[in-house]
Amino acid sequence: MKLTIIGTGYVGLITGACFAEFGYETVCVDKDLDRINQLNDCICPFYEPGVEELLNKHLNKTKLLSFSNSLPQSVHNADIVFITVGTPSKRLEGDADLSFVWDVAREISQNIKKYCLVVTKSTVPVGTTQHVKQIILENVNQESFDVVSNPEFLREGSAIDDFMRPDRVVIGCENKKSENIMKELYRPLNLNETPIVSTSIESSEVIKYASNSFLATKISFINQVANLCEQVGANIQDVAKGMGIDKRIGSKFLHAGPGYGGSCFPKDVKAFINTAKKNNVDFSILSAVDSFNDGRISEITKKIISKSNLNKGDTATMLGLSFKPNTDDIRDSTSIKIAKILNEKGINIKCYDPEAMTNAKKENSFLVLSDDAYAACEESKVIIIGTEWNEFRALDLKQIIGKQNNLCIFDLRNIYNPKELKELGYNYFGTGT
Ligand SMILES: NC(=O)c1ccc[n+]([C@@H]2O[C@H](COP(=O)([O-])OP(=O)(O)OC[C@H]3O[C@@H](n4cnc5c(N)ncnc54)[C@H](O)[C@@H]3O)[C@@H](O)[C@H]2O)c1
Repeated sequence: MKLTIIGTGYVGLITGACFAEFGYETVCVDKDLDRINQLNDCICPFYEPGVEELLNKHLNKTKLLSFSNSLPQSVHNADIVFITVGTPSKRLEGDADLSFVWDVAREISQNIKKYCLVVTKSTVPVGTTQHVKQIILENVNQESFDVVSNPEFLREGSAIDDFMRPDRVVIGCENKKSENIMKELYRPLNLNETPIVSTSIESSEVIKYASNSFLATKISFINQVANLCEQVGANIQDVAKGMGIDKRIGSKFLHAGPGYGGSCFPKDVKAFINTAKKNNVDFSILSAVDSFNDGRISEITKKIISKSNLNKGDTATMLGLSFKPNTDDIRDSTSIKIAKILNEKGINIKCYDPEAMTNAKKENSFLVLSDDAYAACEESKVIIIGTEWNEFRALDLKQIIGKQNNLCIFDLRNIYNPKELKELGYNYFGTGT
């Protein structure tokens, strides 16, 4: 089977590299020529563990993987074409901006030469895949293609493992022919007995948004419980543990923190709310999740300022800038949002992140970058743990506090033991403790 992946970002590149690992001849296309040149030199344009090894294997050795910025040629020969372009939030409205998807659908429609499947793997609101079909039908007859929805559930930071060992694969098809091709495509996953959930196109599109929105709801829920814990002297980590052991609840996504960020949850929650609104369906639960999460950043910033008495001209340290560990993705990063508000109040921000500093500095010139976590903490009044990178768990905190008294540490991710830090002389503030 010959595959073409259009959009070589976090999802497209991992999808392409992993399908090559399955043994398929795969072409990854992107309109960004610099990106394609970098990839052809075996350089991954972003940080994701394990990708460069796969690139090297399939670009240079098996030759199953190739990169191109020419969409027409890549579509002519393909059996399956995946759309993996971005679907960001439209400014102000919160609706998904589908312009990249429509552009790609038009280009595909002009270049189909033999029967192929056109698969939406980008996260797209219900109805989008059918609209892609209508666009293609303007140039191609129905016998020459089928559309499929196959949303992606990988997580940045563990993307390859998630792709190779998913909890499930969801495929939304209109007929048996396309369903059988998709099942054949994912046959290598039979080895791990991966469930294939076969649905209508509409259900498949909704599954993706409902899944992300449910996880986001769990996060906002536990963060509201964390706020309550702070008021009543309870400890959110004990509470979450006590809840999560219950198999009906589960322990994942029950970690109190600064709220959800990243390239998916914020935009997907907003887009799902919009879909409900357009269909006159009450989704007030999700609207509450969204507005609580949006407000959490300023609540946390207020807490930092008031508890540490931060003033204009003071310096604060942000440890961790990416929206989660093991990625350099800073889209909707809560650390950067907090740093920005503090900086607007005249506070200097020193920072350190193992991978995300270049991306962060590009868009936030106020950040003062440091070579390591220790340098970032020097002469700071406040340390904020924004992202739970493993290397922050093993810092020599005795060295950082030195002879200072009552250095404030805001452990937004609850990675430290409050008792130990208090004994070292820190003024420790966890989340929900
Ligand atoms: N990032 C994740 O963790 C993740 C996980 C699951 C699903 N998703 C979804 O997958 C989709 C892609 O996300 P991403 O994070 O990989 O996006 P991204 O922004 O990292 O990458 C998108 C790529 O598409 C390219 N592109 C845009 N228009 C193009 C065109 N006309 N022709 C060729 N290339 C084009 C861009 O240059 C870019 O390289 C989104 O819908 C997202 O919601 C993302």
